[in-house]
Amino acid sequence: MSAAGDVAARATAGFRQRYGAEPAGRWAAPGRVNLIGEHTDYNDGFVLPFALPLRTVVAAALADDGRWSVWSELDDEPVEFGPAGADEPGRVDGWAAYVAGVVWALRAAGHDVPGARLAVASDVPVGSGLSSSAAIEAAVLAALVDLGGLDLPADRWPRLAQRAENDYVGAPTGIMDQSAVIRGRSGHALFLDCRTEEVEQIPFDLDAAGLAMLVVDSRAPHRHADGEYAARRKSCERAAKALGVAALRDVATADLDAALARLDDPETRRRVRHVVTEDQRVLDTVELLRAGRIRDIGPLLTASHASMRDDFEITVPEIDTAVEAALAAGAYGARMTGGGFGGCVLALVDADAADAVAAAVAAAYADRGFTAPHTLPVLPAGGATRLD
Ligand code: GLA
Repeated sequence: MSAAGDVAARATAGFRQRYGAEPAGRWAAPGRVNLIGEHTDYNDGFVLPFALPLRTVVAAALADDGRWSVWSELDDEPVEFGPAGADEPGRVDGWAAYVAGVVWALRAAGHDVPGARLAVASDVPVGSGLSSSAAIEAAVLAALVDLGGLDLPADRWPRLAQRAENDYVGAPTGIMDQSAVIRGRSGHALFLDCRTEEVEQIPFDLDAAGLAMLVVDSRAPHRHADGEYAARRKSCERAAKALGVAALRDVATADLDAALARLDDPETRRRVRHVVTEDQRVLDTVELLRAGRIRDIGPLLTASHASMRDDFEITVPEIDTAVEAALAAGAYGARMTGGGFGGCVLALVDADAADAVAAAVAAAYADRGFTAPHTLPVLPAGGATRLD
């Protein structure tokens, strides 16, 4: 994994090589982890993600032919699309669909998007559940808004990027990832009300507290992640309908038992219990962080994991093993982060115990015969921005 400077240099080098010219500028957007609040975003609930120091950088310049050309490190040749009007969903697939989707969503919202040439380099690993897709969407959005002088304040970017992902790429995700990578702030976690899109920046200074947050990439193959995600979302929407509420966010914690008693299907009851208790755990975590009690959020993180494992049923053996090993090695709390069925685990640890916890997780993996995990400590970083 390289420093942000290197990834920006790679984007510039790619631009020069593919297009034989200098970019007009470079724009960056990070990956994210979610501290707590999983599968609550599309239930109009609460989430608490933060942006990562790992970034995607887009080097870009206007193109006079009104078309879009995008190259990425993932491919040899640039992908081309446009002109305007020829960019409807389905025309572009693979990683470039996230770029075409942003162009399409901007145009669908009435913006006159300029043709552009773009080169993308990234340190956000693909397929690890750290939102490499939101990172590319946000970096491209930032570039196109600037290049085209579009009148589009950043607090409206998350919905647009989500639209690209939902309606162009076809993934029925919520608004958490795009919000985190656009609105995240260094040293803070982003407390987001997914119904109103109101945010509060919650100070999350791990260093000052002598703590570290480990991100363990489980390396677990994503098993049926897309289909299972969509199924969870449907099940939540059906439950909300059955309960006569607009979204599960409207079931108060105090009314949970009564709500569960009205649902016949045990699986649906488990799904609802996860979402309602998870919303409450986000609120409780925010309270503790506001009071500067970072260590004390540990049990909430671990309870969130248990809820995802037992009620929402979205964890896999590699993920559970990493959580259990981290806790046994002294982590204050640990949980899977992201959509599930693979991806990463977060573990809150004393800074001076970080190496020992990482080693314990690796040893547990070796015992079970799993592919060795990657572990790295992270701090909350800033959101999408122009570099130069
Ligand atoms: C994925 C989605 C998000 C959110 C999480 C689960 O990351 O993109 O919108 O639903 O899963 O919390």
